[in-house]
Amino acid sequence: MILIVGGAGYIGSHLVKELINKERVVVLDNLSAGHRESIDERAIFIKGDLGKVGDVESVFQRYRIKAVMHFAAHSLVEESSQNPYKYYENNVAATLNLLNMMNKYEVNNFIFSSTAAIYGIPEEEIIMESSSTIPINPYGRSKLMIEQILADFHQAYGLNHIILRYFNAAGAYETGEIGESHDPETHLIPIILQYLLGKREKVSIFGTDYPTYDGTCIRDYIHVTDLANAHIKTLDALMTGKKSAGIYNLGNGVGYSVKEVIETCEKVTGIKVNAEHAARREGDPARLIASSKKIGDELGWKAERDLEEMIKSAWKWHERQIY
Ligand code: UFG
Repeated sequence: MILIVGGAGYIGSHLVKELINKERVVVLDNLSAGHRESIDERAIFIKGDLGKVGDVESVFQRYRIKAVMHFAAHSLVEESSQNPYKYYENNVAATLNLLNMMNKYEVNNFIFSSTAAIYGIPEEEIIMESSSTIPINPYGRSKLMIEQILADFHQAYGLNHIILRYFNAAGAYETGEIGESHDPETHLIPIILQYLLGKREKVSIFGTDYPTYDGTCIRDYIHVTDLANAHIKTLDALMTGKKSAGIYNLGNGVGYSVKEVIETCEKVTGIKVNAEHAARREGDPARLIASSKKIGDELGWKAERDLEEMIKSAWKWHERQIY
């Protein structure tokens, strides 16, 4: 049995849909941000809080857990600067509770969802796992703290673990059954698509004076199904003993500017976006592009879906939503 913490959320629910074809899955989620209906019906669902000892312990008592994947985190950069306690409490203290329980029940395999935000403002054009990690907001720091804790737990308790540093997750499940739904929504692609469906007044481009080719921020977008597949490869590497520790970037290795994302949304949907130029959003680095060569070389994973496919699948899902 594999425990998926945060399996009702955007990335967690896509992973569950893929993993359930291979493994028995139990999802622990408090539904604070996730959606009950996003969890594949073949998975066992337990509503509970990662930070509550009793909630977490009862899962380990009831099921023989072989490995844990942890998707349950707050992940909004701006909010983390305004309310850092929320981030350290959930992303650090509650995660420590989970790790402690794993130790108690001798569950020794852990896959951790980390983020490009740990790199802060990178010096390199293409970010490697060895690039310096100087996060510039509490969200990034909360994730980096757990990365450091994992290294200590590996050394002291022999905890096998793999850290996956996601770049910009996008897209939806190919059938359109599940997709990205945050409240409030802050991410670029869902905002554009909601605007195109008449559910929003406007799209703002946050900053047009960045030192990039068109002045807008560049990001490395990765399809959520590619992310899910990376977790499955990673789990296999841990369970077969091929890896006992590792850190991997997950991206496409291709950067798209905000303007290019808007143009691709126009191309996919056939509808014009009249975006307005707005001030920079605090804490946005100009460019974040991953090298995912390491996971390719070591585990044989690579991203298979491009930006157009991400937007097509997201559009399919958004069109089905009645807000
Ligand atoms: N953007 C706009 N207008 C919008 C929304 C976003 O111009 O209405 C821009 C942002 O300024 C940024 C780009 O679009 O340049 C992408 O923004 P998102 O909010 O979609 O994604 P982020 O790059 O801010 O965030 C992602 C993850 C975070 C992670 C961060 C790392 O969602 O969890 O990358 O920097 F922390």
